[in-house]
Amino acid sequence: MQEILKEMHGWMANYMKSFYSDDEEVQQGILIKEKHTGYVTANCIELAKFLNFSKHDTELAEIIGLFHDVGRFRQYSLYKTFNDADSEDHADLGITVIEELDFFKKIPAADYEIVKFAIQQHNKKTVAPTNDERKILFAKVIRDADKLDIYRVLEPFLAQDNADKMPKFIKGKARADVSPDFVENFVTGKQADYRKIRTNGDRKIVRLMWVYDINFAWTMKKIVERGYIDKIVQNLPQDEKIAEGVKNLRDYVENFCKGVCK
Ligand SMILES: [Fe+2]
Repeated sequence: MQEILKEMHGWMANYMKSFYSDDEEVQQGILIKEKHTGYVTANCIELAKFLNFSKHDTELAEIIGLFHDVGRFRQYSLYKTFNDADSEDHADLGITVIEELDFFKKIPAADYEIVKFAIQQHNKKTVAPTNDERKILFAKVIRDADKLDIYRVLEPFLAQDNADKMPKFIKGKARADVSPDFVENFVTGKQADYRKIRTNGDRKIVRLMWVYDINFAWTMKKIVERGYIDKIVQNLPQDEKIAEGVKNLRDYVENFCKGVCK
């Protein structure tokens, strides 16, 4: 698989560069996605090692990380947005791109199916049910690896003062408050629907609630260590109900980690 992996890295690097633009905003968006691709690939490898994956499975995780957002580039060139609701689902679009690539035909059929499943499911609210445990496992790996890096990407935009500097493609409404339905979901621990985001506060709640969807202690440990939860909480409006949701979340994290996250 080593040779194919090399070919894939080369192709992806050139593919991403082919979307470079003189338009500053477009270029900023492409560079964010390029960097994100690199970090998520590295996260996949590190997580696979933590999970004691075989060399083969670690390489498979690497391929999934490398291609998980391949659909983003075609999405931007077609629709000039990274917003799935305003265009189409970037993971589904990624599958279309992958199916056009010859080198994927060189990997074993079962691996190819795992790659496609994990990538298609990486951004869905929940993973589609299947009896194939390997498909589920790799979907969990990419979902964790992706979320961990999105926390990094969004960190500079958490403070309300910086919300206006947010590039258009990740910008919510610049209001700091949290909509009542998002507060309600947060308190009850129900995943919020990101398509209903109306304010910058709603966006923060969605990101916080991702914590409930983290699969592995490795990822939770990184999230805690890097202070992503604290930084989001510090930038939320003061509100009794939100404070209750935060307490529930912290209790959940503590129980999930059982001491291994600090
Ligand atoms: Fe994605």
